[in-house]
Amino acid sequence: MQLKRTNNCGELREQDAGKQVTLTGWVNSYRDHGGVVFVDLRDRWGLTQAVFHPEHAEAYAIGRQLRNEDVAGIHGRVTARAGTAINPKMPTGHIEVIVERAELINKADAVPFSPTSHDVVNEDTRLKYRYLDLRRRPMTEALVLRHRVVKIMRDYCDQHGFLEIETPILYKSTPEGAREFLVPSRLHAGQFYALPQSPQLFKQVLMVGGMDRYMQIARCFRDEDLRADRQPEFTQLDLEMSFVEREDVIELITGLIVRLWREVLGIELPTPFKRMSWQEAMDRFGIDRPDTRFGMELADVSNWAAQSQFAVFRDAAVGGGCVKMIAVPGGGSLSRKQLDALTEEAKKLGAKGLAWIKLGGEAGAGNMGGPIAKFITPGQQQELRRLTSSGDGDLLLAVADKQEVAWRVLGEIRQLLARQLNMIPANRHDFLWIVDFPSFERDAAAGRYIARHHPFTAPLDEDLELLKTNPDKVRAKAYDIVLNGIEIGGGSIRIHQRDVQSQIFSLLGISPDEAQKKFAFLLDALRFGAPPHGGIALGLDRLIMLMLNRASIREVIAFPKTQSGSDLMTEAPSPVEPRQLQDLAIAAIKPLVKA
Ligand code: AMO
Ligand code: AMP
Repeated sequence: MQLKRTNNCGELREQDAGKQVTLTGWVNSYRDHGGVVFVDLRDRWGLTQAVFHPEHAEAYAIGRQLRNEDVAGIHGRVTARAGTAINPKMPTGHIEVIVERAELINKADAVPFSPTSHDVVNEDTRLKYRYLDLRRRPMTEALVLRHRVVKIMRDYCDQHGFLEIETPILYKSTPEGAREFLVPSRLHAGQFYALPQSPQLFKQVLMVGGMDRYMQIARCFRDEDLRADRQPEFTQLDLEMSFVEREDVIELITGLIVRLWREVLGIELPTPFKRMSWQEAMDRFGIDRPDTRFGMELADVSNWAAQSQFAVFRDAAVGGGCVKMIAVPGGGSLSRKQLDALTEEAKKLGAKGLAWIKLGGEAGAGNMGGPIAKFITPGQQQELRRLTSSGDGDLLLAVADKQEVAWRVLGEIRQLLARQLNMIPANRHDFLWIVDFPSFERDAAAGRYIARHHPFTAPLDEDLELLKTNPDKVRAKAYDIVLNGIEIGGGSIRIHQRDVQSQIFSLLGISPDEAQKKFAFLLDALRFGAPPHGGIALGLDRLIMLMLNRASIREVIAFPKTQSGSDLMTEAPSPVEPRQLQDLAIAAIKPLVKA
């Protein structure tokens, strides 16, 4: 006999009382109350309490054998609970099923950790036994929500005329930014496929192919150093549209986000989302993905510093660098040890030091304290308070350096301090579009320009002239969307004219020959009638992580990899047989470890 379920474990309510039902699932908990056995049966949808009474002797005997994580089936009558037996915390807490027939479908061995336990289980153990981990409520919830989000994305895109089109996973090695994963070809010994960092070039070719609007829930592969919000393979909602401008893409994605928040989280987001130029983001927050949920903005005090008696400040300010500060509200209470730790952090980020000034406090009301206070005259102190909008009790932190260093260091310190000092309000959803990125940055080592987004990103029309005269000032038709300080998506309007494209290649030091070799198919495609087009990709894993307020994208991916890129369940990557390498005509430089 195998019991076939009539209902799931999460759906029975008081009005179902009296029904005969069959449920199947896992034993979530087991309690023997002397003569009566209570078992909570669990499946993806929830928990239902099953009650085994001795009068149904056969079922009762089975019930007494059940232990956690066994797979079982029960059949019986739904009964309303009364009084204190009601469990208001459970959606099914107003009923229970009085078991008449039961089946132990599959006995489970003792589990390495219990999916029901609230104890913190080591993440490596969770990843090794991911099937047990997936039975935990938070994991189940994450995958259910992820499914709903993807479904809404597909529906939304479908309603807006998009086609979902798959693009190859075995692809060609093309420089795009991150390091790529290579796959050796057996049929073409010595040659390699690469896994796509994104479907970027294919989606542009699809526009040339007349598909007009493309979307894909696309897997991307990047061999990067991993962090909490990065995986070597991750998922994007990838889009491309023809005959559009930046505003069309921004509007479409804003509409999608609003719908997701409304339908999945029940939150009505105000629109339009805030917008900020890259320049403003850097000046105010030191970072191109600012967290705007708290203040502590950067102040440029270079002009003030140029008059200062403190050599470090003055030299930077008059020597082509700058001095930037943040005012930490209430930061006057930070201990010497905390300040030393911040200084260490600043140095790790590339600063030569981190100067600090305490306002008021031990130095006395209206005064400044700390090692450099003695270099600042009372008049300059007043001016500094004004420039940094600070007052007694606050702490000023300063970096004197090249602008890029000051931005990076204070931008990071600002976020670090906000977390440490609990300055980040809960339940905020600060969406922000960053626009007008610079097109290029200088690669100091190579002494040339590199594309910030990718070499196919179109410059702003009004900046086209600057390509010849002042490439540093050229801004791109690129946009990023940021939520609470995390970049959840980015894209651009692409170049569709050959002459602009070759101008940019030559600026980037890519010769026509080289361009032809690396991007032949795209350049060919651009010659045969390319429509104006542009697109964007949203990082799906990051979006889900933020919707669920989880600390890492590993919490919203069914089978993620560790920080070191391993899959602990399947034990990938793993050594292979020498014969397999022989077939591929490749040799490992280090001797292979025998598996
Ligand atoms: P980009 O490289 O900005 O753009 O990627 C888009 C979004 O993908 C997410 N993301 C990641 N998520 C998890 N792990 C990673 N390693 C990772 N890397 C990126 C981020 C990011 O904003 N082809 C372009 C898009 C375009 O121009 O249309 C692209 O891939 O949330
Ligand atoms: P020093 O004169 O090197 O002893 O430094 C005095 C203080 O200035 C220390 O707190 C240093 O951390 C800080 N400091 C040194 N260099 C810089 C810099 N480039 N920017 C900001 N603070 C600095």
